[in-house]
Amino acid sequence: MKVTVVGAGAVGASCAEYIAIKNFASEVVLVDIKEGFAEGKAMDLMQTASLNGFDTKITGVTNDYSKTAGSDICVITSGIPRKPGMTREELIGINAGIVKEVSSNLVKNSPETIIIVVSNPMDTMTYLVHKTSGLDKNKIIGMGGALDSARFKYRLAEALEAPISDVDGMVIGGHSDTGMVPLTRLATRNSVPVTKFISEDRLNQVMEDTKVGGATLTKLLGTSAWYAPGAAVSALVQAIACDQKKMFPCSVMLNGEYGMKDICIGAPAILGRNGIEKIVELDLNDAEKNHMKESAEGVRKTNDLLEV
Ligand SMILES: NC(=O)c1ccc[n+]([C@@H]2O[C@H](COP(=O)([O-])OP(=O)(O)OC[C@H]3O[C@@H](n4cnc5c(N)ncnc54)[C@H](O)[C@@H]3O)[C@@H](O)[C@H]2O)c1
Repeated sequence: MKVTVVGAGAVGASCAEYIAIKNFASEVVLVDIKEGFAEGKAMDLMQTASLNGFDTKITGVTNDYSKTAGSDICVITSGIPRKPGMTREELIGINAGIVKEVSSNLVKNSPETIIIVVSNPMDTMTYLVHKTSGLDKNKIIGMGGALDSARFKYRLAEALEAPISDVDGMVIGGHSDTGMVPLTRLATRNSVPVTKFISEDRLNQVMEDTKVGGATLTKLLGTSAWYAPGAAVSALVQAIACDQKKMFPCSVMLNGEYGMKDICIGAPAILGRNGIEKIVELDLNDAEKNHMKESAEGVRKTNDLLEV
């Protein structure tokens, strides 16, 4: 199992570290455009191997895609992150060019690969890879919902004063401050609806805190977060590599599901060795459907800025 991670910055390096620590991949190749950066990150990570007990071989290269040849899974984290006060959508001008070029280099060297897109605005970057890479639609997955759901569960556990392992919940829709659709109606504590334990007002607060989860961290850190994003990507990579058939909300190309076509947006997907094995359609109520529709309008507006 060979995994390439493009972008050895905060999210890329964190993702490589979690993949290595989970010890399911034989090889991780880090690629960055900054001379020596990926090589340095790879060497530093390899020097944790004896301490953390993993055998995954991590190597780093400066823009040399020949070293990525034969990758089973490629992760794209290259591009700029947002600064405090910025939206993810504002990154499109720079990141679209980077994601298009990087995905083309990856597919040239690994024509059978599965691509996980992380760079923002993620739903639109995933759409761009669909339009330009020539890969089958089950092989292109955007990572956003897995992270947003982890943040939702963190906020739910806080409100419930419960351990996070007691809590289940999912965020679908666009990966943006306004587009996320946290499914509060379906969130549970050990199968019991969370509304049994907290008021509607508190649950609305959880929903709002979840939607601005990334912006809250960007304000605190001065740049966007990396531990939870890295962990979320590594969970998707592991589900595919180990054929786990686990369900995560991912940005997927819809073809009639949720009444939408020709858009990449967050929906529950079962991930296994073929990438997206199945898109799961939930029975949403009218409010959730409307929320999803508004979210899609936002994503389409950003997609319209692409030149494809
Ligand atoms: N989808 C999500 O849930 C999610 C979560 C967090 C961050 N992000 C996004 O991920 C991206 C990376 O964030 P970060 O915090 O790691 O940023 P970062 O600046 O720490 O790292 C980005 C790296 O990409 C490299 N790079 C730039 N152009 C490149 C190219 N053409 N080829 C190879 N490497 C290139 C840079 O040199 C840098 O090392 C951002 O767009 C950010 O918004 C997405």
